Amino acid sequence: MPSNRPYTAIARVYDLLDLPFEYRRYRPIRHLLFESTGGNILDAGVGTGRNMAFYPPGATVTGIDLSPAMLARAEKRKKPLGVSCQLLEKDVAATGLEDSCFDFIIATFLFCVLDDEDQLPALRELKRLCKPDGEIRILEYQLSEKPLTRFTMRLWAPWVRFMYGATFDRQTERYVPDAGLTLVEDRFVFKDIIKLLILRP
Ligand SMILES: C[S@@+](CC[C@H](N)C(=O)[O-])C[C@H]1O[C@@H](n2cnc3c(N)ncnc32)[C@H](O)[C@@H]1O
Repeated sequence: MPSNRPYTAIARVYDLLDLPFEYRRYRPIRHLLFESTGGNILDAGVGTGRNMAFYPPGATVTGIDLSPAMLARAEKRKKPLGVSCQLLEKDVAATGLEDSCFDFIIATFLFCVLDDEDQLPALRELKRLCKPDGEIRILEYQLSEKPLTRFTMRLWAPWVRFMYGATFDRQTERYVPDAGLTLVEDRFVFKDIIKLLILRP
């Protein structure tokens, strides 16, 4: 069972800590995850609910997260945004949810937090939950190829690992074929450090 320790400790200050990145990097690209989506949607690793403002009207959204403290923050965010979604405490690698129940599965900055050995089980679980004609959309960090940016990211890495349990070099796409998924899109959406992966069963 993975640990939710970092997020229990930082849930109260997570939004504040992340604020500059949220406004400069993440907010302008979050809409990409929800474009042309609808039906049943899973927000895996929902965190404090930062994707909520982009949920398509009329969709039935379920948010899962390992950390009760992060889920409590997400619960508070629902009302002011007028969002209705179900929030559940679940490990993404073993959700216990029904097979093929989601049209779209969204995971923003979840896989950078999952250890290497948890990447494949998590992708396999998402494939099980995704309808055969559904889609999985993932937003993730990658180490830049540009020397100065790469150096700066490496300087930040110990802090990011300590605070968030995250790393910049997970290479989630490596596990896609073994999970029985097909990578249909793989493109950078912020410089050469944040990429959008679109997978289909
Ligand atoms: C970096 S935060 C991203 C939160 C949100 N998706 C966002 O875009 O702001 C990662 C989240 O993944 C959750 N998480 C970590 N491991 C998990 C697991 N095994 N199953 C479900 N959620 C997990 C953490 O508790 C945390 O809320």
